[in-house]
Amino acid sequence: MKEFHVGVVGATGMVGQRFISLLENHPWFRLVVVAASPRSAGKTYEEAIGNRWAMPAPMPEAVKKMIVMDASDVEAVVKKVDFVFCAVDMKKDEIKALEEAYAKAECPVISNNSAHRFTPDVPMIIPEINAAHAEIIPAQRKRLGTKRGFIAVKSNCSLQSYVPALHPLRADFGVTKSLVCTYQAISGAGKTFETWPEMIDNVIPFIGGEEGKSENEPLKIWGEVKDGEIVSAKSPSLTAQCLRVPCSDGHMAAVFVSFDRKPTIEQIKEKWASYSGEPQALNLPSAPKQFLHYFEEENRPQTKLDRNLENGMAVSIGRLRQDTQYDYKFVCLSHNTLRGAAGGGVLLAELLAAKGYFD
Ligand SMILES: NC(=O)c1ccc[n+]([C@@H]2O[C@H](COP(=O)([O-])OP(=O)(O)OC[C@H]3O[C@@H](n4cnc5c(N)ncnc54)[C@H](OP(=O)(O)O)[C@@H]3O)[C@@H](O)[C@H]2O)c1
Repeated sequence: MKEFHVGVVGATGMVGQRFISLLENHPWFRLVVVAASPRSAGKTYEEAIGNRWAMPAPMPEAVKKMIVMDASDVEAVVKKVDFVFCAVDMKKDEIKALEEAYAKAECPVISNNSAHRFTPDVPMIIPEINAAHAEIIPAQRKRLGTKRGFIAVKSNCSLQSYVPALHPLRADFGVTKSLVCTYQAISGAGKTFETWPEMIDNVIPFIGGEEGKSENEPLKIWGEVKDGEIVSAKSPSLTAQCLRVPCSDGHMAAVFVSFDRKPTIEQIKEKWASYSGEPQALNLPSAPKQFLHYFEEENRPQTKLDRNLENGMAVSIGRLRQDTQYDYKFVCLSHNTLRGAAGGGVLLAELLAAKGYFD
């Protein structure tokens, strides 16, 4: 694979810092640009971060002295890079405009932001599940009037455990409905216990916009490419409650599910154990070897013990059992800033690189 030069837009944020960590020593992608708001622009990355570095590993030496660029200076950034990752905290219409400006300047954008998730010709991809949605990119390029530039997004972090768990069951057993309660870590809000002390010893039963994303985004992921658009699936019927819990990283979900053709517990476990997608077939650098791990122990998965499974890129599942209202219930877990954000973004970029979309 040829080496690609990449930029991170929003490099000083929680997700941006994850990108910086993951790109250190990446075999295909070399970090050459860090960009953020005018508040950080012109400072060294180290100065701009100040005491905000929240990653478990130290800040990579190579990035410390890089000068942070102003993300709105699109022309200057795109001169230096082959594509950008984008994770910014701005208003939705500002993000839409910024991402389109990069794409129209012929710079592909791999986005963690929600702004373009429901733009009909923007693929929202979990690489193991709907890699085929990348086929929409030529139609998007036609609309944008670009040769190389496009936007591809990853989905919300809340659903990165239960959509993978439900997916292998859909084709054979027909998932009809599912109820999900999520227990989401504070890094999902770009926060640590230092910056959000109110979360210590607390649960907050509200995360703005999260329940709508958790119910609607899966249907686009399970949708199909038709006439230059991605048409969302009509089923299953999904309902979600999303709670903020006092964990640093890792989103847990308690899931209830019913089927058209009710499988046995053994059939479900067999589907999970044998499931793999294009990242595994293509042997992408960030792909987990085993995407879905089932724990037989009755007290697993646990957020603290299991969120880092396979470098935080695998999904952990446990406690599958019969339910009295639905067919079954189970619990699942994924790392929100790795699989759910920057790691998922890097894996998506690897998939698109392997398929030639950055050439
Ligand atoms: N945290 C998660 O688990 C997670 C998961 C999935 C998706 N996301 C999404 O990823 C995005 C970033 O989240 P985060 O948690 O990393 O947020 P964050 O920690 O608040 O970081 C925000 C970033 O945006 C930059 N920024 C703010 N205003 C800007 C402007 N006007 N122009 C350019 N850059 C600007 C900030 O730069 P300065 O430092 O210069 O202000 C910073 O780099 C959000 O859209 C979020 O919904 C987050």
